[in-house]
This record gives sequence, C-alpha cells and structure tokens, in this order.
Amino acid sequence: MKDHLIIFDTTMRDGEQSPGASMTKEEKLRIARLLEKMRVDVIEAGFPAASNGDFEAVRAVAEIIKDSTVCGLSRANDKDIARAADAIKPAKSGRIHTFIATSPIHMEKKLRMTPDQVLTDAVNAVRFARKFTDDVEFSPEDAGRSDVDFLCRVLEAVIREGAKTVNIPDTVGYTVPEQFGALIRTLRERIPNSDKAIWSVHCHNDLGLAVANSLAAVMNGARQVECTINGLGERAGNSSLEEIVMAVRTRRDVFPCDTRIDATQIVPASKLVSGITGFPVQPNKAIVGANAFAHEAGIHQDGVLKSRETYEIMRAEDVGWNANKLVLGKHSGRTAFKARLKELGIGLESDQAINAAFARFKDLADKKHEIFDEDIHALLAGEAIAAQSEHWKLIDMSQASGTGERPHAKVVLAEGGTERRAESQGDGPVDATFKAIESVANSGAELMLYSVNAVTQGTESQGEVTVRLQKSGRIVNGVGADTDIVVASAKAYLAALNKLQSKIERINPQL
Ligand code: KIV
Ligand code: ZN
Repeated sequence: MKDHLIIFDTTMRDGEQSPGASMTKEEKLRIARLLEKMRVDVIEAGFPAASNGDFEAVRAVAEIIKDSTVCGLSRANDKDIARAADAIKPAKSGRIHTFIATSPIHMEKKLRMTPDQVLTDAVNAVRFARKFTDDVEFSPEDAGRSDVDFLCRVLEAVIREGAKTVNIPDTVGYTVPEQFGALIRTLRERIPNSDKAIWSVHCHNDLGLAVANSLAAVMNGARQVECTINGLGERAGNSSLEEIVMAVRTRRDVFPCDTRIDATQIVPASKLVSGITGFPVQPNKAIVGANAFAHEAGIHQDGVLKSRETYEIMRAEDVGWNANKLVLGKHSGRTAFKARLKELGIGLESDQAINAAFARFKDLADKKHEIFDEDIHALLAGEAIAAQSEHWKLIDMSQASGTGERPHAKVVLAEGGTERRAESQGDGPVDATFKAIESVANSGAELMLYSVNAVTQGTESQGEVTVRLQKSGRIVNGVGADTDIVVASAKAYLAALNKLQSKIERINPQL
C-alpha cells in the first residue's frame, strides 16, 4: 500500500492573491464544486479576515462542500483566527490554517518582532485555534530562508500545542530541489515529535522550481502538497496541482505515494479557473496547455499513430481532454440545459438566474450550432459577472473596418439605467470600441493586458477575451465571451470597469 498524498488546493486563497484574480462568492462556489468533484482533499477557500466578502465566500463554500475539508487562512492573532473559525463553522470537515513569518528578514523588517516573540505568537495562535477545531495547520512563512534551528524550535512547539499539519512554505521561491528536500528531511529527523504531524509543503515558482521543490519534499517525507490549478498564485505562482498529481501518478515507480484525485476533472478545472480569473493558460503548459498533447513534427505523428507510447507518457483523455461532449443545440430545452448545468457542477441558486442563463444560451445557440461544455462555462462566467453590481452594461454596438479605412465603432451603454451613446475611431475595431467606451466612462484606467482565446475549436468558436485594467494601484481582470470577438472585447472591458467600480477593499494576509 502506498502512502496517501494529501492534495491541498489554494487556488481560491493564494491564487486569488495574483493581481486581478479576485473572485466573487459565486465564482468561488463554482470552483469549489469542481474541486470537490475532482476529489481534492483540502480546499483553502480564502482568508476570512481580509474582507466581509472573503468571509462570506469561505462560509458559503463551507456550507456546500461535503467531501473535502474546507480551510480558512488566518494570521497568528486571535481576531483573524476567530474570524476563520466562524467562516468554516458550517463545514462537515473544517480546518484553520494559521501562519507567522520565521525568517530573519521577515521578523526584523516586516513584523519588527524578536524570534522569541514570534515563537510565543505561533504557540498562542495554535492553542487558540485548537479551541475551535482539532484540525489546525501551522506555517512558518518564508521557511525557505529561515534558520533551521529556529524552525525546529517553533515547529516542535506548535506540534506540542496540537498542530496536526505543519506546512513548510518557500514563500519567495528561493530554494532548489536538493536543498528543499534536505530541509524537510532534516526537520523531520531533528524534531522529536515530528511523527505527530503531517508534513506539508507550499512552494512558489519564482525560479520555476515550485513543482520540482514540492516533489523533492515528497521524496523526503512530505505527505501534503499545497498547490493551485494552472499554478496560479502570487507573482510567478504556486506549484501546479495538475503537474504534481500527474507526476506522482505517471511515475508511480519513483514516488512512494499517490493521490485520490479524479484526473479527468483537471482540464475542466483549468478552463474554469482560467475563465473566471482571466489568466490564460500558455499553450505549452504541461498537462493543461492546448499543445500539451499536440504532435506537430511529422516523425512524432507517425510514431504516435503506430503506438502512442512512442511519444506520449500520459493519455489526453485521462486528464480530461476531449471530455467536452457535444451537449446541447438550438432545440435543447430548459430542462436539458438545467440538467447539463447540474452535471457540470454549476449550481445556479435561483430560477431567475437559471432563466437568465438559459436566455444567454439560446442567444448563443442561434449563432453557434454546437454548444460544448466549455461554451457553457464561458457563458456562465459572463453570467457571474452580470450578477455582480453592473454599473456599465452593453446594450448595442457596431463597428466598421476594412482595408484602407480607419476603423470606426459605435456603442450604446447603460450607466445605472441611463442610456449613453458614443463613437470613436481607432487603430483597429477593438481599439475603436475601447476608445468609444472610454469617451463616456472616462475611467482613467490603464490597459495592462488584452488577450483573446478560442473557447473551443473551429472558427465558429466563441472568443474569450481578458482585459486587465489598473487604476490607482488596483488591478482588475474582466472576461467576456462571444462568437464576435469585438463584442467579447467590449464585454470584457466593461466587466473590468464594473470591477473597478466596486469599492471592495481586501487585506493581503502577508502584508
Ligand atoms: O507563501 C506563503 O508563505 C503562504 C503562507 C500563508 C502559507 O502563502
Ligand atoms: Zn503562498
């Protein structure tokens, strides 16, 4: 029997800390349902003390998830911990994850605390968290740059206090695999009560080593890996869940453990997270990139046709590629649509939400004959955005462009119920459309990123556009999908403007 490797997903907490990736409660619920279907062991749903919105989202996830543990992050203080405890209270299985930095640079420059004060706070935090649940995880932030003797003191003390999981973060992605693996081994060997806790790792990808470091830790006794879908996360991101799971599974001969993950949910989850956050997946990304199983070179194609194992070490269908069944079409009714939403784990709360989504589906079916699961996810990403406070709404738009003609766009928008019309020229139809929108919105925001992806294959596909805007240091992503990519672009731009409009302020747990 192999050991069980616990998969701890932090897409909705660390992933959400990526610039512009913040998620609404509804979006988190959709991701959580899919993670549960994927059989993720622990879902870190957020940082409840960050804002009321974060608290509500973690609580809502805790209310619906039954087959995964739901975790809330907290700094090492009573207020944060009590807030996290309250948020996870409805969970069938809930965890509090508390942390404090232990590296000299963080203690001195960020916390302005002595090592002894940090040790006291760590112990008090775990003791306080244990009043609410037996399932307490402790992380010494920036462990990768911490003094090993000090780490041993802190970790021994928090395990004695009842921390069931001790998580070793390489917060700034500084370590290299041999060193990180050795660190886990040393801690396990030197700490007398190390066998009383599960050892976990949380690696950032600043040097592109997050997955390699996590796997080196697994080889040295770690039995929980913290990771995210598509490797989303602060700066260069976290360890990617799909790479960890498939490495351990594909190289069963090397790793002493396995996960309980249903890998066929990996590609759907990747698409869902990318659609919601507006972070496109690079084509050559392992497992979930569009080219991950594409064989371009003739010699490879020949080999794969003769025997797929010549060039493929995994099967595309095993990670959920080609799972995009043709689902519905123009003549599908509301019942079939509702049933498909259920199968996809998309729970729309009210009849009103289902009717609105069904109306959008019918519009799409008029333009596109075959509707795939990805189309439904893209459609519903728009729906979730529409459910948020919509200051700006697209009513109508048109544009004209041609060889030798300067593109020209007209838009009709609703601003809180009042109709506004505008037109503008631009370098291309998208540029003209954005300029027309800005001529009425006057947002003063800076466009930081514009990207278009095809939702499915073929020229009939919906285009999914991401627009990233920045204003006064705040970064937001807007996503829009449509068979017409200029319309998708306008929807994405307005979604980003609407997010800028909402004044929700969140605290970053690590600042
Ligand atoms: O990177 C980090 O150190 C973290 C901790 C809160 C676990 O995200
Ligand atoms: Zn992190």
